[in-house]
Amino acid sequence: MCGIIGYVGKDKCIPKIIHGLEALEYRGYDSAGISYFFKNKIKTIKAEGKIVNLKALLNFNEESYLGIGHTRWATHGKANKTNAHPHSVGKFTIVHNGIIENYSELKEKLIKEKYVFKSETDTEVACALFDFLYKKNKNILETLSEAIKILKGSYAFGIICNDDANTLYALRNTSPLIIATDETGNFIASDVPAILKFTNKYILLEDNEIAQITADKIVVYNNNLEIVKKNIKTFSESYEAATKNGYEHFMLKEINEQDKVYKNTIDYYFDGTIESLEKNFNFLNKFERIDIVACGSAYHTGLVGKCLIEKYANIPVNVEVASEYRYKNCFYNNKTLVILVSQSGETADTLAVLRKAKNDQIKTLAIVNVVGSSIAREADYVIYIKAGCEIAVATTKAYLAQLAIFSLITTYLGYKNGVIDSKELTTIFKDINLLPNLINKTIANYETYFKIADKIYKHKQIFFIGRGIDYAISMEASLKLKEISYINSVAYQAGELKHGTISLIDKNTPVIAIATDKYLLEKTISNIKEVKARGAFVILVSNTTFKDHFYDEFITIADVHPILQSIIIIIPLQLLAYKVAKNNGCNIDKPKNLAKSVTVE
Ligand code: M6R
Repeated sequence: MCGIIGYVGKDKCIPKIIHGLEALEYRGYDSAGISYFFKNKIKTIKAEGKIVNLKALLNFNEESYLGIGHTRWATHGKANKTNAHPHSVGKFTIVHNGIIENYSELKEKLIKEKYVFKSETDTEVACALFDFLYKKNKNILETLSEAIKILKGSYAFGIICNDDANTLYALRNTSPLIIATDETGNFIASDVPAILKFTNKYILLEDNEIAQITADKIVVYNNNLEIVKKNIKTFSESYEAATKNGYEHFMLKEINEQDKVYKNTIDYYFDGTIESLEKNFNFLNKFERIDIVACGSAYHTGLVGKCLIEKYANIPVNVEVASEYRYKNCFYNNKTLVILVSQSGETADTLAVLRKAKNDQIKTLAIVNVVGSSIAREADYVIYIKAGCEIAVATTKAYLAQLAIFSLITTYLGYKNGVIDSKELTTIFKDINLLPNLINKTIANYETYFKIADKIYKHKQIFFIGRGIDYAISMEASLKLKEISYINSVAYQAGELKHGTISLIDKNTPVIAIATDKYLLEKTISNIKEVKARGAFVILVSNTTFKDHFYDEFITIADVHPILQSIIIIIPLQLLAYKVAKNNGCNIDKPKNLAKSVTVE
C-alpha cells in the first residue's frame, strides 16, 4: 500500500526522502511525489509510475531541509499524476495513507464553502478540511485536533503548512506511522525500512495522536492537545537485513532464510520439553472452539492450522477470510478464541475483526511478525513469529513461520487433550529438531524444481490438487504462483474435480498434485490418475515413493511427522513459482496491483 516519509533537519531533505520512498517500494505503488520548502515556499513534484520517473524531475542539491514524500497505491481515482500525492489546498500540503470514509459528504460541504477540487482523491478533501478549519482558528494544532473529530476512516498523514516553514506535522488513526531521529534531524514514516539506513530508533504514533516535529524537537499530543510521553523503541534488525544481500530478488533471499526463521521461531517457544510449550501456550486450554481469521497467505496457514488442530487436538476450528468474517453473524462465545494471523499486523480487514471480537468481549490471539504492530498491540494474547523483516510482496518465510507456530500449538494441545501420547510426542520432538536441516536440504534441491518450472512456465493455467492438509497447502502454492507469475492457477480438493473442474483439463495441462497424507493417499492417487487419463502433465509432490508411473515429474520430499509435513511441502512450490515468474520476466518482488501491507479495506 501507499508509503509515507518526511524529514526535517540539517541535511538536504530530497536525497533522504527519495531514499525512504525507494525503501518503501516493496509496499506497492503506482505514482510518487514529494513536497518541500524552498525559500519559504512549498514546491511539489509528482510523477506517474516508478520513483525513477520522479527522480528524473528533481534537483537533489536543492537547498531544502524539510519535506514530505509519498508512494501512492490508487484507491480513490486512477493512478495518474493529478491523483498522486502530495495534495495542496490553500495553506496545507499533505500526504496520506488509508481511506477517508466520509469524504463524499465532506467534499459536498467544502464545495459549498467554495473549495474546488482537482483530483478524485479523498486525500485532497482532507487537505481542504484542514485549510477550512485553519481559516477559522489560525492554529495548526487545533486544526488537526478538530479534524480528528470530523474525519472517519483510516489515515496516517504527513502535513506541512505555508505558515510554518520549520515544522512537520503528523496524525494517525488506524494506519501506522512512526517518528524517528538520527543525528541530523527527525523523520516520519509509514514503515521502519524507510528510515533504517539512518536510524533504528523510533516512536510509534498511536491512534488520534498528533506529532509536531522540528529539526531538534518532537512533541506528541493527544486529541485534547495534552502532551503525551512516548517510549523510544529499537528495531532489532540491521539495514542489511532489509536489503537483498547478494540475491537477485528479496523473494529468493527470504526463501533461503527459512531454515533460520524456522529455528528462531521454534527456539523462542520450545526448549525440547513439553514444559516449555505448557509455559507459552497454556492459556489455550480455556477455549473449546477456535475461529482463525486472516487474509491471503495468512488465511492459508489458518487452513493448515484447522486440519492439524481438529485432527490432533480434537478442537473444532472455523477458518474464515477477514473481509467476510467482519460483516457476518459470528457464533462465538466466551469459550471461543479468535486467532488473527497476520505477517504485517496491520491488515485492515484482520484488524477490523480483532476490534469486532474485542467489542463483543471475545478473547483474541494474534500470530504476528511485525513487533508492535496494531494487531499485536490490541490482541489479548500475542505469539510473535520470528521471521524478521519480510520485503517481497509474496510472503514465504512468514508463512512458514506461521506454520511452525501452528505445529507447536497443535503438539501442545494434542498432548494435553490425550490425542498425542508420549511415544508420538517423542517422534514429534525429534522431527522438530531435524527440520532446519531438512528445510535446508529441500532448498538446496532447487535445480530439480527449476527444471520443472522451465517445462511449464508458458502455460496459461496451472492446477493444484490435494486432499485434507495437502489441499490447504495447494491453496498457498497456487496463490504464490498466480500472484507473482500472473498465470491463472486454481487449487482444488482432489475429490471435487470430477464435479466440474476436470472439464478444464486438456492434453498437457500442468496439474501439481500434493500427496503426503498417508490416510488419504490411495484416494488422492485415484484422483491423480483421473487427470492423467485426460492428458494432464502431472507433477507429483510426495513423501512416499511409488512403483507406478502415474505422473510425469516427481518432487520427492522428506517424510516427517504430519504435524510438521506442511513446512517441507511448501518449499519446492515456492521455488517453482519463483522460477516460473522469473522465466516470464515478471516483477517478482513487486507484482502488479499488489501491496505488501493492505491497510485499506
Ligand atoms: O500482513 P498479512 O499477513 O495480514 O497479509 C495478508 C495478505 O495480504 C498476504 O498474505 C498476501 O496474500 C500476500 N501477498 C501473499 O503472498
